[in-house]
Amino acid sequence: MGQGNQSIEAEELSGSIRVSIRREDPATGRGAQVRLYEVQAEREMTVLEVLQEVYDRADSTLAFRHYRCGRRLCRSCEVKLDGKIVRGCAALLQPGGTYLLEAAHPENLIRDLVFEFDSGEGSESGPR
Ligand code: FES
Repeated sequence: MGQGNQSIEAEELSGSIRVSIRREDPATGRGAQVRLYEVQAEREMTVLEVLQEVYDRADSTLAFRHYRCGRRLCRSCEVKLDGKIVRGCAALLQPGGTYLLEAAHPENLIRDLVFEFDSGEGSESGPR
């Protein structure tokens, strides 16, 4: 493979990732709203990396559960990605893509993407 192919590949992988996030705070009694965020991305990123970027650079009111195990074991980071439940620490989003993120378990919703989670162990990290 020549160097030319590598630069084409790099171009295709750069850009931004757009995520529409369903936000809701049941405590307010207001309905849910979907907000669109865009994150600069030079490579594919995990859902949690994208959420952290949104939190750090665009909207620190976003509630999501951060890494706990970071190894697809604990399920605390589950979110619904385009209608399918995935683990946010492992699911990859591609530059150029637009995705819908929702709470994985809306029946146990606390706020935004955070749901009641009981692993039977002490909590190491709470919702953001
Ligand atoms: S942080 Fe434990 S499964 Fe993702």
